[in-house]
Amino acid sequence: MDNVIVVASGKGGTGKSTVCICLSVALVKKGKKVLLIDCDCGMRGLDIMLDVEQDILFDASDAVCGNCSFGEAIYKSPHNPNLYLMAAPFDAENELSPSVFRQLVDSVRNNFDYIIIDSPAGIGSGFVTASAPADKALIVTNAEPTSVRGGLKVRRKLEALGVENQRLVINRFDRKMFRKLRFYEDLDAVIDAAQTQLIALVPFSYDISVIMQRGAAGLEDSAALQVFDRLADRLDGRRVPLLIH
Ligand SMILES: Nc1ncnc2c1ncn2[C@@H]1O[C@H](COP(=O)(O)OP(=O)(O)O)[C@@H](O)[C@H]1O
Ligand SMILES: [Mg+2]
Repeated sequence: MDNVIVVASGKGGTGKSTVCICLSVALVKKGKKVLLIDCDCGMRGLDIMLDVEQDILFDASDAVCGNCSFGEAIYKSPHNPNLYLMAAPFDAENELSPSVFRQLVDSVRNNFDYIIIDSPAGIGSGFVTASAPADKALIVTNAEPTSVRGGLKVRRKLEALGVENQRLVINRFDRKMFRKLRFYEDLDAVIDAAQTQLIALVPFSYDISVIMQRGAAGLEDSAALQVFDRLADRLDGRRVPLLIH
């Protein structure tokens, strides 16, 4: 399968982990089997968001060091059947190398329909490792110049790493605020600056921010998930229109 997707951004806090969780839940709802891999070594968070924090005994570094089998480092979401998580190493010094991480992903890729990799911010070694096995990338940005510039840097670095298939997710979009701030004339200007084709526009949503702090349980019924529903369809190659709030 060629559905290994890295979710990256230049700047921190743009919503990478949020996009990873919401997209995974949307894919699972469509009957896909999804493995989420937290690659934010030393700063992992998906285990909390998925409500499996207490269950984690082994992480990705244990799997490659032989402390456990690969299967033992994969945890099932209690709330979303068909959604699985591999946690990032708790300590930053246990960061995996790009080649080791690629081997790890290659050894499990045929067991899943999608593998979604949550990258750390920036274009440093953690990002390079997260991108190593990726077939495609989602670049998550907010509609503000520092965030867009970070996204553009990520785009160029991904190209250099051979990940050519890239799409843009504009997250935490608030139309009123966007008009007031006037950083950009319109959304097209954001897309032009990011130089990447838009695949989803995610609104600022109180629902999303609350849900993400309490775990993904209940996310299934949120209206905010409609955007991710379409994102999942578009990734699956279906031609559905963008949902613009
Ligand atoms: N669409 C959104 N609407 C409201 N809050 C959001 C949205 N996306 C992300 N957030 C919030 O922004 C913060 C950073 O998101 P997170 O996914 O942790 O970013 P990153 O992984 O890029 O560092 C979190 O508090 C999260 O709940
Ligand atoms: Mg994160």
